[in-house]
Amino acid sequence: PGSVPVTLRINGQTHQLMLEPRVTLLDALRENLQLPGTKKGCDHGQCGACTVHVNGRRVNSCLSFAVMHQDDEITTIEGLALNGELHPVQAAFIEHDGFQCGYCTPGQIMSASALLKEPIGKEDADVREAMAGNICRCGAYNNIVAAVQQVRR
Ligand code: FES
Repeated sequence: PGSVPVTLRINGQTHQLMLEPRVTLLDALRENLQLPGTKKGCDHGQCGACTVHVNGRRVNSCLSFAVMHQDDEITTIEGLALNGELHPVQAAFIEHDGFQCGYCTPGQIMSASALLKEPIGKEDADVREAMAGNICRCGAYNNIVAAVQQVRR
């Protein structure tokens, strides 16, 4: 009851769903589309684990209703590697050990891959600030910043 038709473009594929208007983009991805790579940490915009790209920009998918994104091109962590090649940010996270438990990693990588196109400064501190919306409880920040900086240089 109360469901409406919703069309979403995710990782280059079109999906037709029936969703209640209150369903977040995060829950639609995880529960309805079986794309659990996007993580739910806080579910209220504080942790960044749910970061996806909407038309190339990073968005906290827990703060957005799926029904609002019918004209958008959405990319999740599952769609970041292309043609079997890791995205450079993914490869750099592996090289620099940019994770410990890994729960925040999809969000960190989606955030980092979007910020490559944002006008931020060159210093490590600039990356830290630009990634401030992505919390890592293990404290892997130094390695995360090293990974991001390697791709930016
Ligand atoms: Fe969306 Fe934490 S789950 S910001």
